[in-house]
Order: sequence, then C-alpha cells, then structure tokens
Amino acid sequence: MTTDKAVSGREGGRSLKTRVKTARKRSMSSALWLGRQLNDPYVARARTEGYRSRAAFKLLEIDEQYKMLRPGQRIVDLGAAPGGWSQVAAQRIGATAGPGKVVAIDLLAMEAVPGVEFAVMDFNDATAVPRIAAMMGGRADGVLSDMAANATGHKRTDHLRIMGLVELAFEFTRGILAPRGFFLAKVLQGGTEGDLLASLKRDFSAVRHVKPKASRADSSELYVLATGFRGTPLPAPDGTRSAGETGSADGASVAG
Ligand SMILES: C[S@@+](CC[C@H](N)C(=O)[O-])C[C@H]1O[C@@H](n2cnc3c(N)ncnc32)[C@H](O)[C@@H]1O
Repeated sequence: MTTDKAVSGREGGRSLKTRVKTARKRSMSSALWLGRQLNDPYVARARTEGYRSRAAFKLLEIDEQYKMLRPGQRIVDLGAAPGGWSQVAAQRIGATAGPGKVVAIDLLAMEAVPGVEFAVMDFNDATAVPRIAAMMGGRADGVLSDMAANATGHKRTDHLRIMGLVELAFEFTRGILAPRGFFLAKVLQGGTEGDLLASLKRDFSAVRHVKPKASRADSSELYVLATGFRGTPLPAPDGTRSAGETGSADGASVAG
C-alpha cells in the first residue's frame, strides 16, 4: 500500500486529506474503501475516544435521540464484533457498576469489553434464546442488531439477505424480549415493509426508521427502532397470532 498526503484546496482553509494510490495488486474497490476509512472523521473519533468501531457513533446518536438505553437494563447485542455497540450499551446502562448487563454474541470472536458477557454463537441456532436468557438471568429489555450478511455485490440478493436476517432477528427478539422492551435493527433503504412491518406494528406500540448521521449518506443502510413491546402473543386456535393477545412474558419463562 502506498499513501500520500495531499492538501485539498478549500475556500477559507486547507484540510489535509489522505489519498490512497492504487497499488498494482490492490483492487479499485479496496483502494476506495481504504481511502474512505483514512478520511472518515468517525473513524478518527473512534480511535481517539476508544471505540472499537465507527458504528458506535450510530448507536450513540440513536440513543441520544430516543433514550432507549437506561441504567440497570439487560441488553442483547446480536452481531457484536468488534464491539463498538457493546461498549456504548455497557456505558449507557452502567453495566460495570450497577445491575445492568449486556450479553453479546457473534459468529466471530471478539476481545473482552468491560461489563459485557460475550459468546461466539449464531443467533439462528436453536439453543440461542435459552442460552442467552441464561447468560442474562431472564428476559431482555432491549435487543440490538447491527448484523450484516456478507455482501455479494448483487443489490437485490444483498437486500434479500439483510431483510432475511432482520426477520429472523425479530423472531429471536419475540422469544426473549420483556414487555415494554425495544428492538433496534439494521435494515436497508426502503426500510421494513410488508409482513415484517405489519408484525412489528402489531407487537410494538411504536415503529420508526432512523438514519443516523454517522451512517454514510451514500450507504443504503437504515435502522428500524421498535419500542414498547406488547409481550409475546399467544397463538390463536387456528395457529395464527392475533393482536392484543399477550402471553406470560415474565423473566421466568423464556420461550425457546
Ligand atoms: C457490522 S458488524 C457489527 C459491528 C458492531 N455493531 C460494532 O459496533 O462493532 C456485523 C456483525 O454481524 C455478525 N453476524 C452476521 N450474521 C450473524 C449471525 N447469524 N449470528 C451472529 N452474528 C452474526 C458478523 O459476524 C459481524 O461481525
């Protein structure tokens, strides 16, 4: 890799911009990615403020606006590595000093974060809900999902893959969330639609889409925030679920 410093001529001031030369073996897309990383103010802030990822600022911003994270809560962080969201959640709920707890999982290993209990796990695993509930000591007050499937570069395929992840994360959440809890998940532009949006609206008192400033403007990424979980609906006799019916959702009985 070769980098050089170039002064970008801006009216009223000069700013140093790092430019990345495309080495013969480096593809244009990875050179673009590296150039963007080197010039990204959130990447620089993450480094100086001790966050593991620039993504930490997205959660900080969303929480600043909607105040979902509160001292003493139990929070699940799905797809947590390298740990930026876990760091923010642990700070906001006071996990190192008080009774709050963050349980984080990922397919990849992650370095320990103070106040966070971590396990390498696929949230789709049949045992994920009971295992996480056991780690937490009951139901969660909030489920965070910044999960992303590996991009294929094919827009439609990537959209379907991420929306599939969100639907599964929502099913997971229904199994573990305490009444009045919240669910925050990464979706794509256009947000949640159709059946998923209808299900979210049925199970939560408020559903909104949020695009934090820290989320790159040229990215189709968006977040859905659903608050005020109504509790796990009981199945109707014909197997469907009907709005307003709520089952026992206390910490003692976590559905698998
Ligand atoms: C964008 S990263 C999360 C960044 C994190 N929020 C942060 O601030 O550091 C998405 C993560 O989701 C994880 N992931 C994807 N599918 C998963 C699954 N089925 N179960 C658990 N983790 C998964 C990936 O391994 C990846 O580490």
